[in-house]
Amino acid sequence: MDIPGPEPRADGGVAALAAAGGLHTYQLRLHAAYGPVVRFQLPGAGEAVSVADPVLLEATVGIDRRPERLFAFLDPLFEAGNLQAMPAGEHTPWRRQVLSALAGRPSHERHLPRFTELATALADRWDEQADHGPVGLQKDLTTLSLRMICGYALGGDTADPDRVVAAFEAVLTEHLGRLHQDPPSDPPGTSAGRAEEALAHLRATVDRVVRAHRSGGRAGSSDLIGALVEAGASPARIRDTVMAMMLAAHHTTGVAVSWTLHLLGGHPEVADRVAGELDRVLGDRAAPDYADLRRLRYLEMTLKESMRLYPPGPYGARETTGPLTVGDYEIPAGTTILYPFWAIHMNPDHWPEPEEFRPERFTPEETARRPRLAYVPFGIGPRSCEGAALAMVEAELVLAVLLKRFRFRPAPGHRVTPVERFVLWAADDIRMTVHRRTANQDRGDAPGRRPAAG
Ligand code: HEM
Repeated sequence: MDIPGPEPRADGGVAALAAAGGLHTYQLRLHAAYGPVVRFQLPGAGEAVSVADPVLLEATVGIDRRPERLFAFLDPLFEAGNLQAMPAGEHTPWRRQVLSALAGRPSHERHLPRFTELATALADRWDEQADHGPVGLQKDLTTLSLRMICGYALGGDTADPDRVVAAFEAVLTEHLGRLHQDPPSDPPGTSAGRAEEALAHLRATVDRVVRAHRSGGRAGSSDLIGALVEAGASPARIRDTVMAMMLAAHHTTGVAVSWTLHLLGGHPEVADRVAGELDRVLGDRAAPDYADLRRLRYLEMTLKESMRLYPPGPYGARETTGPLTVGDYEIPAGTTILYPFWAIHMNPDHWPEPEEFRPERFTPEETARRPRLAYVPFGIGPRSCEGAALAMVEAELVLAVLLKRFRFRPAPGHRVTPVERFVLWAADDIRMTVHRRTANQDRGDAPGRRPAAG
């Protein structure tokens, strides 16, 4: 059967996408009109196919190729080949090396004290703002997650972490700013020159850590760089990997936390339950240890539900390497599949009243009732997020530190508008007021407010 979809237009789909107000809304509309498998024009990438049914998606999980053209904007950041689009033969061993560090519990546990220090420093800063004007959650939390991933990827010995963070921000402003067509904030050429210098500084920093590993030093070492050195990766590939990790980790984890705080601000009854669980598990302690994180079940459910409603990475892309049967349809080789992760999370067949924020959707019983690909915040298959487990640890830790100490309320008159950028961003930040929790107020453990899980 031919895959259904709108008539192709001479403008390559630009007007239809603009009229829908963004790719997510466009995909939602296409699926509502044409069913679970749809073909459409993706501006700049020709024809693409979108699959929104979690059972049909299973047929695509083995695809191990991304369309190069869609990721070409990242080429200048890499020396040994664009890690987002590298061929399967190179990607598979690289993924294994990276996962050996990133997915390992010992590595997460080892970094928890440093992550806690960084999260506590932000909480201390917000404490000074408590009961005053609003803070910009997205800006501060993405900076925090950049600091965390720098500490993780480069180890504890980076001479000047602030300079590394500033250098990475200069690189991003130049490369992603161009992608989003942000108006330049500097005279022509200045920011490009600064980004070049910043990139050179980052690469030299990675080289220093690599040399320290080669000479056998462990103090302050990086698990990630250590795993790559031991696997015999080239210095250029190691430098690229650190860049890729910083790029993938910094906005995503930061926005996951800020969207969660935004949702809790609008749902005080859920915020009460989270606070009650934190009080029960942590007692008088200000931050969880690694074992506590596993006991904060309701907090985890809340984070998951937030990433369903606001998935930090709302799409994924693949290119079919051979003909593929998806339900009643044949998808030819060389087709771009644009995964609508966000639309999948809003599929009413699996998420009744999908717009509602309900952490209880993530009890083990409810989760077992759904097809596994109904929830895909970290993507699918051999190109799914290598940082998923680390990201959950980071996000839960930051939420625990902040919510043990504070209650967040929406800033009066501030409108939060999601926009689809490199990640799912809030157009004008998420501005909220911060209020200290006190012993007898806002404990959330009053009768009838017990956590549903945990
Ligand atoms: C809440 C935080 C995060 C979310 C929601 C997220 C989500 C995603 C998504 C949706 C993808 C694309 C997957 C696909 O195409 O199927 C991805 C890819 C990736 N993510 Fe994450 N991510 C997060 C944090 C992190 C962190 C902390 C790291 C590293 C430390 C990381 C490293 C990566 C890498 C390297 C890729 C590319 C995968 C590949 O091509 O092999 N991410 N992530």
